[in-house]
Amino acid sequence: MVEIAPVSTALERALALLRAGEPVAIPTETVYGLAADACNGAAVARIFEAKGRPRFNPLIAHVSSMAMAETIATFDPLSRRLADAFWPGPLTLVLALAQGSPVHPLVTAGLPTVGLRMPVGFGRDLIDRLGHPLAAPSANRSGRVSTTTARAVAEEFGDRIRLVVDGGTTPVGVESTIVKVERDGLRLLRPGGVPAEAIEALAGLPLERGAGAGIEAPGMMSSHYAPDAAVRLSAAEVRPGEALLAFGPRRAGGAGHAVAVYNLSERGDLAEAAANLFSALKVLDSSGAKRIAVEPVPMHGLGEAINDRLMRAAAPRGKTTDG
Ligand code: TXA
Ligand code: MG
Repeated sequence: MVEIAPVSTALERALALLRAGEPVAIPTETVYGLAADACNGAAVARIFEAKGRPRFNPLIAHVSSMAMAETIATFDPLSRRLADAFWPGPLTLVLALAQGSPVHPLVTAGLPTVGLRMPVGFGRDLIDRLGHPLAAPSANRSGRVSTTTARAVAEEFGDRIRLVVDGGTTPVGVESTIVKVERDGLRLLRPGGVPAEAIEALAGLPLERGAGAGIEAPGMMSSHYAPDAAVRLSAAEVRPGEALLAFGPRRAGGAGHAVAVYNLSERGDLAEAAANLFSALKVLDSSGAKRIAVEPVPMHGLGEAINDRLMRAAAPRGKTTDG
């Protein structure tokens, strides 16, 4: 089985593997990532191999400093303000690739843009020591839900990777928010750990939703994040054979008959709900229920990211997936 080592002792071992071109699973504040040296094409290819991705989608390059970010991408003034305000943290900026960027084209899938973010904690320390950016998609097999514990990562990959660095349960629980500054505004490519309202307040601009002209965000494909069980949203009652994904203090009708119940947050706290989301889906999926009924979750703040992931989990299967 894959080695699991705590952050307190894993840094040197992780560095050695990364320098040898091996992918390593690491904790970030959002979800676990499967990281490789973003400048080493063969190492990045091994990420796709381990994830079993059907095709090469662009990956986020993670940096430890603004100086490193500026070797990779060109910052317009608004992107710089967003980076100043939210980095390190769960915000990914899609930026123009800089001339002479050291990031391998496999990371950007050959696009003239690159997704960049600066993570909090162990990941940032590791990148700083490595001296190179890390390409890191979420540490799950293609088309499955993201992982928020080291154990879930180990179950996901088994012997396909050598090391999982254990940083405990990831505090944010959903992936980073992805935005792109466009000529005429600011586009939300994926809701995530930074609420849209916080970005809008800083930018003084409303976020445009949905794919713009020529936008390439394969991670936005509808059947991403699929558990094995079917998912039914905005459930007012639990039907026979269903498990219940609950939210808040009041229960849907028939909750007493649910195959299993998992409450994202008894007190209706959206940050707590986001942190619990992926493990809740896994727990209910393994209950053997044929379907998961989901109580309504409000759309404000982190609720937008939670509802986005739930809608993907509920989407018809078999469409293009990212990972
Ligand atoms: O929180 C996160 O963002 C986690 C942790 C590990 O950092 N990472 C993550 O990576 O969620 P991944 O590969 O599962 O999702 C990355 C998303 C994909 O939807 C991809 O299409 C989008 O970022 N992306 C990356 N580069 C892009 C680009 N140049 N243009 C548009 N979308 C891009
Ligand atoms: Mg992913």
